[in-house]
Amino acid sequence: MESLELNTSGKIVVNGPQTAKGDIYISGSKNAVLPIMAACLLTDEKITLDNVPDLADVSTMIDILESAGKVVDRIEDKLIITSTSLEDFEIPYEPVRKMRASFNVFGPLTIKMKKAKVALPGGCSIGVRPVNFHLEGLKKLGIESKIEHGFALSKFNGAEKEVNISLKFPSVGATEHIITTATLIYGTKTIISNCAMEPEISDLIDFLNAMGADIIGKNTSTITINGVDKLHGLNYRVIPDRIEAGTYAIMGALIGDNLTIHNICYDDLRILFSTFDDIGINYELNKEEKTLKISKIKNNNLNNVILKTEPYPGFPTDLQPQISVLLSLIKGKSTITETIFKSRFNHIDELNRMGANIRLEDNTAIIDGVDKLTGAPIEATDLRASAALLIAGLLAEGETIISNVDHIFRGYEKLEEKLNKMGLKMTYID
Ligand code: EPZ
Repeated sequence: MESLELNTSGKIVVNGPQTAKGDIYISGSKNAVLPIMAACLLTDEKITLDNVPDLADVSTMIDILESAGKVVDRIEDKLIITSTSLEDFEIPYEPVRKMRASFNVFGPLTIKMKKAKVALPGGCSIGVRPVNFHLEGLKKLGIESKIEHGFALSKFNGAEKEVNISLKFPSVGATEHIITTATLIYGTKTIISNCAMEPEISDLIDFLNAMGADIIGKNTSTITINGVDKLHGLNYRVIPDRIEAGTYAIMGALIGDNLTIHNICYDDLRILFSTFDDIGINYELNKEEKTLKISKIKNNNLNNVILKTEPYPGFPTDLQPQISVLLSLIKGKSTITETIFKSRFNHIDELNRMGANIRLEDNTAIIDGVDKLTGAPIEATDLRASAALLIAGLLAEGETIISNVDHIFRGYEKLEEKLNKMGLKMTYID
């Protein structure tokens, strides 16, 4: 299956200010479908996933499943995953280099193949990203691993009847990895405490339970998994992407004119809506219809806020760069403290090049609101920073050229098509 190759030279050119109108439909969730795809290694039966976004990261995970022996067919937003049996327990460096979430195949592969060899993911521009919580949890499940030549090698020695794992930090990836692995350790009861509770984890648990797993404690910080001996195939629909939805909602608050966002789940974004309320941003939410209607902020007497990123249900770090753009235009002083990826501030210098007034003190951005931003040549460094800089370019006066922008295609499906549908113009230069 042809994978979506990213290059580092892509540029997006926009001329602002522009206005976003009409309707936009949120796609399936990147951060839900990736761990779900990794969990597909646990059965040889046919799985059909629905509402799968067409993203570079999904293509990378398809490459990984195929290198392990799966057959993956894609029909529009459906993935049909089949296999007779897994053939290979080794996952090469290339796909893991591109995407950290690939490491979550390590545990499931070890349980299915009794051993595995997976390249270790490196850090990325948002910070050092070790996998020690993953390996410590897997060790408790009887998976012995060692690091050699940049690879993690494992073998499964069998697990105790009851295993207790307390995570030092509610890591999303470690929680997903340990749950998925423990699911197929027959006869073992695993209790994980201090788990992450992101909606993507609830979706993974729903998916695994629908395959015949026995997992309880969804939406809580303590998850219990009673290992089963077999999981069956199914059809499953992935949840909408709350970070894509939150990004377009913030865009709507800055350049919207009755912009209507569809497939937006209020419960998954409560913290964003309460932040909008604190700031004084108006919007119309229809929880049943899952729609949000939002327009550009008109009144200048908006409130400054003090924000802190935290694990769910706290303010998501994946919306921190985007909300920084909004706060950079609210008169007075606002602050954002980043507690998850302490150096996730690569977008700040670029916003200041556009006329924002933001300074950093340790892991806190102190934002002095300005009247407007002006277009400039800027550079993106990671997925969410790219989205934030695109929003800034669409509202700034004049031309903005965002280089190194291809990160954005890792997390925003059909970007140009969706922008055009909202009446927005951008030019992509390869
Ligand atoms: C997931 O990353 C998301 N990725 C990230 O979204 C998101 O920013 C992050 O959770 C936090 O919400 C996917 O779901 C694919 P963590 P993950 O393990 O699982 C430290 C995006 O933009 N840590 O919760 O890698 C780690 O360094 C991406 O879509 C350890 O120290 O995040 C970080 O500081 C970016 N050791 C903190 O915990 C470990 O073994 C949280 O990381 C694991 C994590």
